[in-house]
Amino acid sequence: MKINTNRLPKTIEAALNAQMTKEAHASQIYLSYGSWADSEGFGGVANFLFRHAQEERNHMMKVLEYILKRGGKVEVDAIPAPPADPTGMQDCFEKVFAHEVDNTNAVYSLVKLSFDEQDWATWNFMQWFVKEQTEEETLALDLLDKLKIAGGDKASSESLYDLDRDLSTAPDDATAAQDVTADKP
Ligand SMILES: [Fe+2]
Ligand SMILES: [Fe+2]
Repeated sequence: MKINTNRLPKTIEAALNAQMTKEAHASQIYLSYGSWADSEGFGGVANFLFRHAQEERNHMMKVLEYILKRGGKVEVDAIPAPPADPTGMQDCFEKVFAHEVDNTNAVYSLVKLSFDEQDWATWNFMQWFVKEQTEEETLALDLLDKLKIAGGDKASSESLYDLDRDLSTAPDDATAAQDVTADKP
């Protein structure tokens, strides 16, 4: 008899493969929005979004490696096309936020599924993504905050110029609340 070396329940294996494709899709969305931003003249925003596309690619790779290390079968699937170009910077940042929330919901579903299946290894693995999604939602909210201060939909060219320059060097990660101290709020 050949023993079963796949440590992933079938439901979890399928959900992880779907999450892998979702992270790849997120990467394509950031590539697409970044290209749009650059075409509109916002090289700094494009740089920020392109860097983030690479982060999403890293997330995809983490899920892929996890499936393999648990003896599961990786299914590299077709990546859905990104949505239409944003209509402006406000629309772009709102959509970035909405995509992140959508991904958070997928992560939460996997946490719930791993709990229901009592697959504690996957439950533990997914905690990294729970924290990462909290940070990414913060990052997207920061974009909306910056644009709001710049004037939102009515932002002047001058303030958009400053915002664009700011984002070209903006850090890739937001600080998680649990990593804050009184000295470093
Ligand atoms: Fe991600
Ligand atoms: Fe993300």
